[in-house]
Amino acid sequence: MTPEIWSQTEDYLSALLCPPDADLALALHCSEQEHLPPINVSPLQGRQISLLARMVGARRILEVGTLGGYSTLWLAKTLPPDGRMITIENNPVHAAVAIGNLKQAGLSGQVEVRLGNAAERLAALIDEKAEPYDFFFIDADQHNNVVYFESCLRLGRPGSVIVLDNVVRSGEVRQTGTTNQAVRATQQVLQMVGSAEDVDGAVFQTVGRRGHDGMLVARIR
Ligand SMILES: C[S@@+](CC[C@H](N)C(=O)[O-])C[C@H]1O[C@@H](n2cnc3c(N)ncnc32)[C@H](O)[C@@H]1O
Repeated sequence: MTPEIWSQTEDYLSALLCPPDADLALALHCSEQEHLPPINVSPLQGRQISLLARMVGARRILEVGTLGGYSTLWLAKTLPPDGRMITIENNPVHAAVAIGNLKQAGLSGQVEVRLGNAAERLAALIDEKAEPYDFFFIDADQHNNVVYFESCLRLGRPGSVIVLDNVVRSGEVRQTGTTNQAVRATQQVLQMVGSAEDVDGAVFQTVGRRGHDGMLVARIR
């Protein structure tokens, strides 16, 4: 198996399983026009997280790390009419592009982009004591993954699902004694999930255009 085969296989699967969607295509186009970094989820990953959100019947979704709103759109499109989503982003340029993309897709009424530092925004949400969220997608600065994951545990309920992106990073995650703070934080989350009594989790390893990676999918007991 070579990375070229991974890319070709991803293209094949995406063509079959990710039907054309004008809103998603426009969001990617606008993100590129505004020079946002191309670090959004792939179409197949967007499909994966949206399927998971549908499987739990998510009515309330919380995302950490918006960028141009590509993954946000994938998730928001699964919401029922009374469903709501909050997505947190600290870069005002990224947030503005996401707000534009959501508006174009007619989803502004259901999705709120909260501008600011994710740890602070999550702490504020905990203080708000809002209704629990059903589904979380964490995809921001990885060295803060422990704070993000623990906050999601507090903002969820039994049965809520938390997806944490980029946990494998070409196998870096297996390196004990690493000094990379992003990897260390992810290792800590995985150790927590492995030993916690209130959450179950599994990692789905992926290969594709972006190489070898994976997502942690956890469920609050
Ligand atoms: C990988 S991108 C998100 C991609 C997006 N989920 C998608 O797939 O379309 C990570 C985003 O998190 C944002 N971010 C990084 N650190 C953050 C922080 N401390 N608080 C809030 N957002 C942050 C970055 O500005 C960036 O837009």
